Amino acid sequence: MKLIYQGKTKDVYQLEDGNYMLKFKDDVTGVDGVFDPGANSVGLTIEGAGRSGLKLTKYFFELLNEKGIPTHYINADIENVTMTVKPAEVFGKGLEVICRYRAVGSFFRRYGLYAEEGQPLDAFVEVTIKDDKREDPTISEDALDMLGILSKAEYKVLKELTQKIAGIVKNELAKKQIELYDIKFEFGRAGENKEIVLIDEISGGNMRAYKDGKYIEPLELEKLILQ
Ligand SMILES: Nc1ncnc2c1ncn2[C@@H]1O[C@H](COP(=O)(O)OP(=O)(O)OP(=O)(O)O)[C@@H](O)[C@H]1O
Ligand SMILES: [Mg+2]
Repeated sequence: MKLIYQGKTKDVYQLEDGNYMLKFKDDVTGVDGVFDPGANSVGLTIEGAGRSGLKLTKYFFELLNEKGIPTHYINADIENVTMTVKPAEVFGKGLEVICRYRAVGSFFRRYGLYAEEGQPLDAFVEVTIKDDKREDPTISEDALDMLGILSKAEYKVLKELTQKIAGIVKNELAKKQIELYDIKFEFGRAGENKEIVLIDEISGGNMRAYKDGKYIEPLELEKLILQ
């Protein structure tokens, strides 16, 4: 197998059959040793973070596959901390799609003039460009189309899938009295017909979850959901 990309939290290998293998690392995003799912740098290393993220990712992707939602998932190997996936072509140089149920994080930092911190949001969808240098700016549907990153027809699919998947995750968390505030996904085009599928991961590092008004750290979230 061939190493094709070294990310902040995962390494990507190409397998001989053309599929990709994601190796989850113990590096997590954050600033100055404090975890932040929205941060653009590796802030700290937590032993077991990779395996914990993979366990949750496996759980959610298998749930989504059961529900017929298109994803890149093939299988996961918890022992070796790897996941085999179908290769996808990302939009432009990569996008992130966020679904928000409460006004926190960068939403509140941007719109604090109009929004109250923590106010409910109705599965509000935002797209950001993966561009660490420019701090992942948000981008509109029109700009995505104009810059040739994503067509308007694709945007519609992306938004619908995002709300559907976020809703499924939100429900799962609610079963454990945990509230999902926001969550971030990645999508890509896969296969010959360039179907839009969910890629990457779904772990504590991609979402803000709260229980009894208290933020739940990624490793604790995995334990609460999978126990
Ligand atoms: N099925 C797939 N096909 C192609 N690329 C994928 C697939 N699944 C995930 N990826 C890409 O693999 C990389 C995984 O690395 P990692 O999660 O460390 O991300 P990163 O882009 O470096 O940083 P971050 O997501 O933390 O901003 C990401 O670039 C992601 O877009
Ligand atoms: Mg990533």
